[in-house]
Amino acid sequence: MANSSLLLQLIILLLSSLSSAKTSTKNHPLPPPLTTDYYAKSCPRFHQVVQTIVVPKQSTTPTTAAATLRLFFHDCMVGGCDASVLIASNAYNKAERDMDINESLAGDGFDIVTRVKMALEIECPGVVSCSDVLAITTRDLILQIGGPHYEIKFGRRDGLESKATNVEGKLGRSNMTMNDIIRLFESHKYSVREMVALMGGGHTIGFAHCKEFQSRLFGPKPDPSVHPKLLERLKAMCANSSSDPTVSAFLDPISPGNFDNLIFKNLLNGLGVLGTDQAMASDPRTRPFVEEYARDQVLFFRDFARAMEKTSVYQVKTGNQGEVRRRCDAFNNHPKGGKSA
Ligand code: HEM
Repeated sequence: MANSSLLLQLIILLLSSLSSAKTSTKNHPLPPPLTTDYYAKSCPRFHQVVQTIVVPKQSTTPTTAAATLRLFFHDCMVGGCDASVLIASNAYNKAERDMDINESLAGDGFDIVTRVKMALEIECPGVVSCSDVLAITTRDLILQIGGPHYEIKFGRRDGLESKATNVEGKLGRSNMTMNDIIRLFESHKYSVREMVALMGGGHTIGFAHCKEFQSRLFGPKPDPSVHPKLLERLKAMCANSSSDPTVSAFLDPISPGNFDNLIFKNLLNGLGVLGTDQAMASDPRTRPFVEEYARDQVLFFRDFARAMEKTSVYQVKTGNQGEVRRRCDAFNNHPKGGKSA
């Protein structure tokens, strides 16, 4: 008898907790998820329009893919993939893109997003968000330079805030230790395996300015992990970088324009340009993945694609959160540059 009354009490408790869970979902409905066919009705030629801009831009300006991939990553890690990095500063607001780490984001990334957005505004005005434009443009550019395909879902909304101060502590710096980097990626919910795939994929293309790696080259004792030939080449290249700070080197000195796994082979041979990349080949937590990816490009592509898919939905805004911006560098209705601090 005592047992059956206990059971009854338990059932009542369970039912009441279920009904309160239901009410709270009703009061605060979950934002809708992203979907692959989000623009099927509202902008059916969406992807064709993107391609008409992306393909010729990358062919004529091969630096576009790397610029856009870095832009996308720097956007997603700060408050989610919401195009907040694209907002321009004004008299009232110093935006994310004017934080020191973002000042080296190359103009081609911003340029391609502006062009795609303008073409889409002609095709279907006010429909496609800047954050969706950045996500699909990045994916298509990676494919165009030989990288893997991954699925992009749509329906991201553009953020209503962009503050330089939000960037601190969210992105990696070239003077970090491997401990710092692992902790940073952990804070964004990436495993070490995903981290290695992303960093390798990011740095198998593109450039770095001398200031990001010259501490490895000069001084009484250059970094012994730099291959002597590369050391010689980088030293010659960066000798006058104080008078010309724009001097930069390919992050993957062997196949800079192709998306491939050579970056990992390079790292095993001391051919990493950034100290943080080279450290992946020596740290026992990351080296096994560097070795695996150097051996097996298919595996690297699979892991990179999965990690990019994960990145592309990181802390996204959907439904009635945020807005669809009319132009990517300004909020629609916030002349003062977004929420105040
Ligand atoms: C702790 C991790 C990371 C550090 C310390 C780091 C650091 C850097 C640095 C110092 C540069 C050179 C910037 C310049 O001098 O202009 C760079 C370039 C680049 N990074 Fe990273 N990065 C990291 C992770 C990533 C990830 C995860 C991605 C993408 C998935 C990525 C994509 C890129 C790309 C594509 C470039 C070349 C940009 C261009 O050529 O315009 N990085 N990174």
